Amino acid sequence: MKAAVYTKYGPPEVLHIKEVEEPTPHNNEVLIRIYATTVNRTDTGFRSARYFVSRFFTGLIKPKRPVAGSEFAGKIVEVGIDVKDFKVGDKVFGFEDVRSGAHAEYMTVAADGSMAKMPEGFSYQVMAPAGEGATYALSVITAVGIQKGQKVLVYGASGAIGSAAIQILKHLKAEVTAVCGTKNLKLIKLLGADKVIDYQKEDFTKVDETFDFVFDAVGKSSYGACKKLLTPAGKYYSTELGSYGQNPLLAVWFALTGSRKVIFPIPKINKEKMEYIKRLIESGAYKPVIDRTYSLNEIVEATRYVESGQKTGNVVIKVV
Ligand SMILES: NC(=O)c1ccc[n+]([C@@H]2O[C@H](COP(=O)([O-])OP(=O)(O)OC[C@H]3O[C@@H](n4cnc5c(N)ncnc54)[C@H](OP(=O)(O)O)[C@@H]3O)[C@@H](O)[C@H]2O)c1
Repeated sequence: MKAAVYTKYGPPEVLHIKEVEEPTPHNNEVLIRIYATTVNRTDTGFRSARYFVSRFFTGLIKPKRPVAGSEFAGKIVEVGIDVKDFKVGDKVFGFEDVRSGAHAEYMTVAADGSMAKMPEGFSYQVMAPAGEGATYALSVITAVGIQKGQKVLVYGASGAIGSAAIQILKHLKAEVTAVCGTKNLKLIKLLGADKVIDYQKEDFTKVDETFDFVFDAVGKSSYGACKKLLTPAGKYYSTELGSYGQNPLLAVWFALTGSRKVIFPIPKINKEKMEYIKRLIESGAYKPVIDRTYSLNEIVEATRYVESGQKTGNVVIKVV
């Protein structure tokens, strides 16, 4: 089968298209014919090994699993003998961040992994980007325990995580102030944000308002710059470690002092989250934002674009 593989960590150019052996499902796994996948920041983080810590999951010296790709949408073509919940012909989508393998014509996924049957009437290309941004956003929002009417500021509102966060927060009836660049103002309003701040025209850290939660979904702020935006019980979260790894360190410090002003939850990616996201999509509450679509042969170009940090929402890869 055709796959995008990498045998060493490095820039997007370490990826190349190659014929590799088709995987065989174990007893508790399904074999999926992939129709669409994505290039996301999880893939680029693992491939570049920008943070050394990621190598503890992907291989210390070189990648343990050469086929990249974490989000997928496709059709089941084979099931292991212990699989009860899926059958050949089921259309599924999901997010396999640990084992990867989605940048290929076929991949195997554990039947109890973060995968769900696709809702009726949605294409593979719409469902492939439903996993990463939404599960990360949902993990953080769940960890904070956002309630109806609470005020949330989302910085980096136009990324995969930010655009999903706005929609999930609005579904939970929070009051959302979103921060994005000029070109994305209209989109972010359409996603349901109550108020939009253009960071290219206004410094959002200077607004005369406080929030129950500041969600930095682009990792470009700091707790120091945002703390005046927080209510007394307000919380701050960033998708990046911050300079000198300050965000997880502050999270530990505030956990010890009991105030939990900075949180850094490890995302919990599982089947329940995929099922929740499926229901949001079915009900129209969440729609993954798609920026560009590439073919599998264009994986390097797609990866360069994602790594530019300028994609809006998600970048889809058509495999068939
Ligand atoms: N495993 C990992 O390491 C991992 C996994 C997933 C995500 N992440 C992190 O999560 C963050 C978000 O990822 P993502 O995929 O949701 O989004 P993304 O692709 O990184 O975000 C792109 C958006 O960020 C905005 N942006 C770019 N520069 C900005 C700036 N200086 N100030 C404010 N906004 C800026 C742009 O929107 P505008 O045009 O509106 O400015 C663009 O649409 C990233 O920091 C990423 O590294 C890490």
